[in-house]
Amino acid sequence: METFIQALPKIELHLHIEGSLEPELMFELARRNGVSIPFDSAAAVRAAYEFSDLQSFLDIYYQGANVLIEEQDFFDLCWAYLLRCRQDNVLHTEIFFDPQTHTERGIEFDTVVNGLLRALERGRTELGISSHLIMCFLRHLDEDSAVATLRRALPHRDKIIAVGLDSAEAGNPPQKFQRVFEEALDAGFLSVAHAGEEGPASYISDAIALLKVARIDHGVRCVEDPELVQQLIAARLPLTVCPLSNVKLRVFDNMQQHNIVDLLRRGLCVTVNSDDPAYFGGYMTDNFVALAAAHPMSEDEIARFSFNAIEASFASAERKCQLEASLRDFLARA
Ligand code: HPA
Ligand code: ZN
Repeated sequence: METFIQALPKIELHLHIEGSLEPELMFELARRNGVSIPFDSAAAVRAAYEFSDLQSFLDIYYQGANVLIEEQDFFDLCWAYLLRCRQDNVLHTEIFFDPQTHTERGIEFDTVVNGLLRALERGRTELGISSHLIMCFLRHLDEDSAVATLRRALPHRDKIIAVGLDSAEAGNPPQKFQRVFEEALDAGFLSVAHAGEEGPASYISDAIALLKVARIDHGVRCVEDPELVQQLIAARLPLTVCPLSNVKLRVFDNMQQHNIVDLLRRGLCVTVNSDDPAYFGGYMTDNFVALAAAHPMSEDEIARFSFNAIEASFASAERKCQLEASLRDFLARA
């Protein structure tokens, strides 16, 4: 099964690029930029990655991002992730970035975007990996800050496909960002939002109704509202689920308790993703392997996550056809 999973063509739709910062690169960038970090080795950094909930992770995650200063840093970060994509046979990826994490430290919006885009372009030509960028607003900050961020992004409108919403969920409901999402949709961005990770099922319903999202990131707490589950099934509204993340951040006590396989069998458009792989113990293949170890599945069921992800992606119709052809070709040979 591991061989099948490793070779399975994959599509990633929920990946925070800042969350792919491996401790080794963190150290290299800290040295290169003269930034001090409160650890004396990559192993010590890894040992500190014990989280009790979302906030305990976010505190460490924002601290780690402090080493990212120059455009080249953002390029190196994104290129390292794309090389991991190639290893895991990820053919298409849609990458979140958090502009405010950087602009709040005095890093220019353009520095971040130009570094990421240069890596994505090279990924397209050298690795054949297609990609999109999604800009997330930090929900612990106020809506005015999100509006200012959106306006800074307008000159890059053609290079950023969607806006999203991440960071501390509980107490920061979708309502808080209704105006900025409306402005983003008017400007031609698509929208997604984290909801139903630590927040209640009503945040999922509100993200759909108020923020007009095309997908929900996480969404695993939808099961608390049976009507919402029926709505998600009927509309094929996708959930980008992150199994290892959910166990690390104690959304579920262990992988056996995770509900994604049940949701798949009930007909939801669920997908498997890595979220913040450098912090949660694994990339795409690791997530599939951990899931399959806890929930025996047929090859068809495992492949359905990839079909769902193609359907849920923002890839062009032409690219979706290519991805489906790769997947069918792989299954015919498997
Ligand atoms: N949830 C909310 N915010 C985040 C996450 C997450 O899983 N990862 C990075 N920022
Ligand atoms: Zn996330």
